[in-house]
Amino acid sequence: MVLSASLHAQSKQVKTENIQPTTARTGADLFREFCAVCHGVDAKGNGPAADALKTRPSDLTQISRRNGSKFPTVRMHRFVSGEDAVAAHGSRDMPTWGNAFKSISADAASAEMRVNVLVEYLQKIQK
Ligand code: HEC
Repeated sequence: MVLSASLHAQSKQVKTENIQPTTARTGADLFREFCAVCHGVDAKGNGPAADALKTRPSDLTQISRRNGSKFPTVRMHRFVSGEDAVAAHGSRDMPTWGNAFKSISADAASAEMRVNVLVEYLQKIQK
């Protein structure tokens, strides 16, 4: 199954890699594996692919700060899984991880669990 996250920009192109089944389980592992390429290992938005995107990846350590010191758990869950993405309105730069994880997980519940673990991790790294 191929993750539909091809990164095109006017001048630069980032190689798209197939998403592989993974044994990574902790939020930190999942983050490094799937998110750091854009958001950076430190989650501040400076991953190696960031320059090739139309939209700058968000600084994920500042989510609470941008939301009145409260981490918007439900909204972040929806954002990461892509439930909020409206296909008819074109593509966003951020991949929809709900579907990507379903393609590599044994069942919908374990795909859901990856999103949960990641959102918990994000909550932990708030500055
Ligand atoms: C292909 C690059 C890319 C990858 C990989 C990526 N993101 Fe993103 N992400 C973005 C971009 C760009 C944005 C900015 C908003 C947009 O595109 O709509 C963003 C925004 C976000 C936001 C919203 C922050 C806010 O304040 O609203 C969250 C949360 C997030 N990403 C989490 C993740 C997680 C978790 C992963 C790994 C599972 C991940 N991202 C992987 C590019 C990426």
